[in-house]
Amino acid sequence: MIILGIETSCDETAAAVISVENDQVRLLSNIVSSQIALHASYGGVVPNLAAREHLKNILPVIGTALEKAGKKPSELDLIAVTNGPGLIPALLIGTTTAKTLSYLWHAPLIGIQHIEGHIYANFISAKTDEIKFPILALVVSGGHTQLVLMKKHLHYEIIGETVDDAVGEAFDKVARILGLGYPGGPAVAKLADSYLGEKKFKITLPRPMLKSANFNFSFSGLKTAVLYATKKDPKNLENPDYISEMCHEFQTAVTDVLVAKTIRAAKKHHPKTILLAGGVSANKNLRGKLELAVKENLKDTNCFVPELTYSMDNATMIAIAGYYRYKNLKNKKSLGKSWTNLETSASLKL
Ligand code: KG4
Ligand code: ZN
Repeated sequence: MIILGIETSCDETAAAVISVENDQVRLLSNIVSSQIALHASYGGVVPNLAAREHLKNILPVIGTALEKAGKKPSELDLIAVTNGPGLIPALLIGTTTAKTLSYLWHAPLIGIQHIEGHIYANFISAKTDEIKFPILALVVSGGHTQLVLMKKHLHYEIIGETVDDAVGEAFDKVARILGLGYPGGPAVAKLADSYLGEKKFKITLPRPMLKSANFNFSFSGLKTAVLYATKKDPKNLENPDYISEMCHEFQTAVTDVLVAKTIRAAKKHHPKTILLAGGVSANKNLRGKLELAVKENLKDTNCFVPELTYSMDNATMIAIAGYYRYKNLKNKKSLGKSWTNLETSASLKL
């Protein structure tokens, strides 16, 4: 079957086409139009501006995705669109476009939860039969930090999550404190990786909730610790060595907590697979340390991380999740007029 995926939950207008035969997925096109330059001068994503850009770009992006895939609208068997969570004005452009195209092109429509899409990004390039259940997914994005247990496809049990800021949000806020601009995560990561290892400033940050008995996280205090440390001597902000030491200590603190809690959760729930998901999965330090910790601590567990291209928001992950949702539907005819009842949704359905 041929599936068109559409994603507009934040600041990327994305469309992708995949072909699936006997569970074998072929990627035909993956188009992402990023709005980073537009939002950079505001220090973050402005929802109404994002919606305006999506509106301008959505049809050309979908048109290019179809053209690159060499497919006509009449060949589409399914449209999958992100229907939440995200910025409501941005989501509405994607869902309204998808509903209209579903009606015009007589293609059934399925709504995909954005985080579910990020989890399924791991199925894009991995041999899917190597990803065995139960799965423990560490979700690290701009809006979410969760440990999600999946006993089978499309079944999600959240066993731990952040009690305040998401990890991507903390990266972005620390970048703002350090004057590194938007988007903050990649900027902090780049400087952290350039740190030469000399503790000139003796910066030590807390590892919040590292030892707590549950699998929850907290990153707001860590961000505040960065703020207080820099306020003590604002002149340090002009020193590149200080900035890179701070970025490195922050990234290490975040990674220490995420990796330790994931391993502890795995020791309790015995997953066969650990998956990393969400935009922060692009962080090389986190990817490397998680893979190493799984190898060293969990003999019978495999670890997968998404290809870097599919770590950040994209529509291929939405199309793949759409395939599994469609496959799981008992009554496929119920999708006949699905464009009439697609709503925006917020949480992972259990
Ligand atoms: O998943 P995503 O693209 O959007 C949401 O669904 O929220 O994640 C975006 C987040 C941003 O907070 C961004 O700063 C962070 O992912 N991010 C990173 C890196 N690349 C992106 N954080 C740390 N290291 C990176 N290399
Ligand atoms: Zn995302």
